Amino acid sequence: MDKKSFYITTPIYYPSDNLHIGHTYCTVMADAMARFKRLQGYDVRFLTGTDEHGQKIQTKAQDKGVTPQEYVDNIVGGIKKLWATMEISYDDFIRTTEPRHMKRVQELFMKMYEKGDIYKGAYEGWYCVPCESYWTESQLAEGGVCPDCGRPVQKASEEAYFFKLSKYAQPVRDLLAKGEFLQPMTRVNEMLGFIDQGLEDLCISRSSFDWGIPVPIDDKHVMYVWLDALSNYITSLGCPYIEGGVEGDVEGESDAALFKKFWPADFHLVGKEIVRFHSIIWPAMLMSAEIELPKHVLGHGWILIDGGKMSKSKGNVVDPVVLIDRYGVDALKYFLLREYTFGQDGAFTNEVMLNRLNYDLANDLGNLVSRSVTMIEKYCEGIVPAHSEAASEDPDGELRALALGCHAKVEGHMDKFQFNLALEDIWEVVRRTNKYIDETAPWVLAKDEAKAARLSEVMHNLAESLRIVSVLIFPFMHTTSSKIREQIGLSKEPVWEDALVFDTYDGEKVQRGEVIFPRLDIQKELAELEELRQKALAEAEGKKYEPVKEDIEFDDFAKIDLRSGVITKAEKHPKADKLLVFEVDLGFEKRTIVSGVAEHFKPEECVGQHVIAVVNLKPRMLRGVESNGMLLFGETPDGKLKFAETAAEAGSAIG
Ligand code: ME8
Repeated sequence: MDKKSFYITTPIYYPSDNLHIGHTYCTVMADAMARFKRLQGYDVRFLTGTDEHGQKIQTKAQDKGVTPQEYVDNIVGGIKKLWATMEISYDDFIRTTEPRHMKRVQELFMKMYEKGDIYKGAYEGWYCVPCESYWTESQLAEGGVCPDCGRPVQKASEEAYFFKLSKYAQPVRDLLAKGEFLQPMTRVNEMLGFIDQGLEDLCISRSSFDWGIPVPIDDKHVMYVWLDALSNYITSLGCPYIEGGVEGDVEGESDAALFKKFWPADFHLVGKEIVRFHSIIWPAMLMSAEIELPKHVLGHGWILIDGGKMSKSKGNVVDPVVLIDRYGVDALKYFLLREYTFGQDGAFTNEVMLNRLNYDLANDLGNLVSRSVTMIEKYCEGIVPAHSEAASEDPDGELRALALGCHAKVEGHMDKFQFNLALEDIWEVVRRTNKYIDETAPWVLAKDEAKAARLSEVMHNLAESLRIVSVLIFPFMHTTSSKIREQIGLSKEPVWEDALVFDTYDGEKVQRGEVIFPRLDIQKELAELEELRQKALAEAEGKKYEPVKEDIEFDDFAKIDLRSGVITKAEKHPKADKLLVFEVDLGFEKRTIVSGVAEHFKPEECVGQHVIAVVNLKPRMLRGVESNGMLLFGETPDGKLKFAETAAEAGSAIG
């Protein structure tokens, strides 16, 4: 029998900037779900990609002096690299600039046009450039700003093509009211309210910029971004069909077969701000094109920083790469999936994250693995002992029942995308197993020959419990799962059924490995993360460290004797226009130092300046005057010099 199929998608992200932790959050959830379904034996298709057209990207490219294609190619390269680092298991990555997408969107347009659902009109409205959305007067937020992003909008009017969205208001309303299509329910009410205000027809073309898919019936127009973007979910599967496929189709699979197998999608996973597009506009477009509707749209909440959305200018964008570099991919995945409740907003702070990593990963899971493996090595010569009913005692049954019952709870939570509850239940097993070690006290059993069978049974139960944990965590952190399995002597990738049985394995050789999650010094980590944030902020403001000289060894630097001093006299060099001759009071003596700074300072403004001087530079004759050191100056971006001042007393060492 054919495997059951499962199709899940993320939004296709704008490659206008590098992605941040919010995008990572959505992609990690989709990845965990895709892996979970694969583990359960489904034939899974997981789609992500990039939404590359539109005015915003065209403007950004112009600002950078590159073509829009060059601009997006560069950012998309970075996005693909991020997903590779995070081992995101997508099956297809669609870019809206690919021919396979563009050609099919044009076909979709024609289908809707031929149906009589697209007409030419004049659009006038309030336009939000960053969101690429038109808003009616009544939709604007307080203060007349964009209701999605809160930024100013501008009045705009132009000839445009429209999709008869209003025609589909009732069927879309009915679809939503049934309560199955969109989750969570709070979003359904929002959407019904939105429809009940009256759905206006939707502008689906623009003629004020040209970075888009040409409208097939009018070359002055390119498609407005939502028709282009939303249709990625079907164009990547080859719909509408184009004879023989198009460039970029997935090799070895015919279009028709892919579409037949995976459409309708099981879940479109999207952030709450684009639920409206996915749950109203998208079904209406599909109804118009007479294509089956996706089964579910899921709106997830936002990760908030300092109570609001992340923004580069506020310097509070959390870069997943920084966290991965420091704590590893699985730690970040675990945190994102464990910390936030699906559908709700949640705050991100470094402290919350670090505490999770320390308590759940280092203390609970990491400890359990290393304690268990160490004891099996010590007490059982590294071999997992077989189960012995005769040696079973009291806490065993409880541990076994909890471990065996966990898969059903996880399944129940995963059906509702409650990743946090699934992980909480798995961690209940982890914590119970740690407690089991304390209760059974194997180190005491080991002292008594008569308790050898009991000790073996305890070790067996520990190994079994860890094995089940390794199966259950596989969708969320497969690398950690593999590391644990390696340590407990299992080489095969798990299948879900492995979590349904106990007492199935013995005789395997365990092998202690590296610590899977080291304990973190939270205060130190917080300080270092803050330092990195400051650096990133400075970089965003263009204050990047650009080395002007080669790196030196510490010993080279240590040779320089820097002292603080005060200029007591300053006069022009008698024979050189560019030089000033200073007398510098160094506390222990007054010295003559010649500097090439006459273009920057008048002699009289130098007297009394506190300066930093290199005092062990060998004396040099400069046009007949002996200079005994060097003064330090700072250079402003426009090339002016300033004294490198110090408040330290004359003569004190600087360093
Ligand atoms: O909207 N918290 O692309 P986009 C949680 N191209 N999730 C967040 C987030 C945050 N702070 N910030 C972003 C677009 N996201 C369109 C989509 S789909 C046909 C077209 C996630 O780059 C969340 O999933 O702005 C959100 O919906 C998506 O990134 C928006 O990405």
